[in-house]
Amino acid sequence: SFTKAILTTSALLLVYGSAARADALRDTAMDYFQPVPATTPAQVDNPVTPEKVELGKALFFDPRVSASGVFSCNSCHNLATGGDDNLETSIGHGWQKGPRNSPTALNAVFNGAQFWDGRAEDLKAQAKGPVQAGVEMANTPENVTAMLKSMPQYVEWFDASFPDSDDTITFDNFAKAIEAFEATLITPAPFDAFLNGDDAALNEEERAGLELFMDKGCASCHAGVNVGGQDYYPFGLIEKPGADILPAGDKGRFAVTETVDDEYVFRAAPLRNVALTAPYFHSGKVWDLKTAVEIMAESQLGEEITDEEATKIVAFLNSLTGEMPEVVYPVLPAETAETPRPSG
Ligand code: HEM
Ligand code: HEM
Repeated sequence: SFTKAILTTSALLLVYGSAARADALRDTAMDYFQPVPATTPAQVDNPVTPEKVELGKALFFDPRVSASGVFSCNSCHNLATGGDDNLETSIGHGWQKGPRNSPTALNAVFNGAQFWDGRAEDLKAQAKGPVQAGVEMANTPENVTAMLKSMPQYVEWFDASFPDSDDTITFDNFAKAIEAFEATLITPAPFDAFLNGDDAALNEEERAGLELFMDKGCASCHAGVNVGGQDYYPFGLIEKPGADILPAGDKGRFAVTETVDDEYVFRAAPLRNVALTAPYFHSGKVWDLKTAVEIMAESQLGEEITDEEATKIVAFLNSLTGEMPEVVYPVLPAETAETPRPSG
């Protein structure tokens, strides 16, 4: 029984030791990251009401927002496939290939600013972009509002969503409704359960990956709620990747600030659900997540990581795959005689 007591004590110490290690890891992680909040995050100047979320969902799925009647937001940010299109670069109006990879709409609400170069300050500013982009939806604000005004059901939904305004169907309100819907697209993951105190939420390999992600320096750029999406860095800070991955034509944030220092500067990509959003980088040239991790280590940290380290980091990144909110596919209002016909 003496032996038994010793064994029990050492088993307890082992458990205690492992819990203490998990606590230490969590403490360090909390310096870099925050868990996804339990409720829909509030939006500036745009109260998120159930009516507005439902309207925003209809707009997100409505292909009539595009001039051709072919492309909805969901075409390129497919909520069934990780909130993106899994293409190198997106296909839009007239089957044109756009210049950049489509980032996920999931958790985009947590980004400091939107787009690979951060040129839109928030989701309501962002939503006006694709509608008017020639290679995406190729539409005009006037045509979108005419389309919406032509259907009594949309008029009713806008009135219910913006009870304080007279002219409810405006391009601004269109963008606000989409922002409200996107604010609900948040995906709590095993990583969040770990941050919130559940030691068992991450297995040993995932924890080792998290530790490496912080020790190696990934977390100095990929931090915050979205494990990225906050700040801007040269892609190739230490070693410039080849032109196959970093094409010379896209100078990133330079187009926004016109400052030489911002040539080839991009927003550190948000990494939630990254396991679902291949291919990687703004060019979409890398299909394998482990390869993307190895490229990052070399280009951003000037370090060759071992195969084992890369595998562990990928295991950690997999723990960022979250639970999708339940999205019931909307039934959209039927066209009327006044609805603008598809063009182009
Ligand atoms: C970027 C939403 C339509 C392709 C984004 C982002 C959001 C978003 C939130 C920024 C995400 C981030 O920075 O992490 C929407 C909404 C749409 C829409 C609400 C409908 C109104 C489309 C369509 C396409 C598309 C139809 C494809 C034809 C892209 C691409 C980017 C992007 C390529 C990255 C562009 C860049 O960084 O320059 N979208 N999107 N989007 N979206 Fe969309
Ligand atoms: C993009 C992981 C270190 C800045 C990415 C992507 C991954 C990743 C997987 C692609 C995401 C996607 O396409 O959706 C890592 C890992 C790192 C690391 C595992 C450590 C080994 C860093 C550091 C910086 C940084 C230290 C800043 C100095 C960026 C930027 C992008 C990016 C700017 C966007 C690149 C582009 O234009 O396509 N990271 N990263 N990363 N990361 Fe890192």
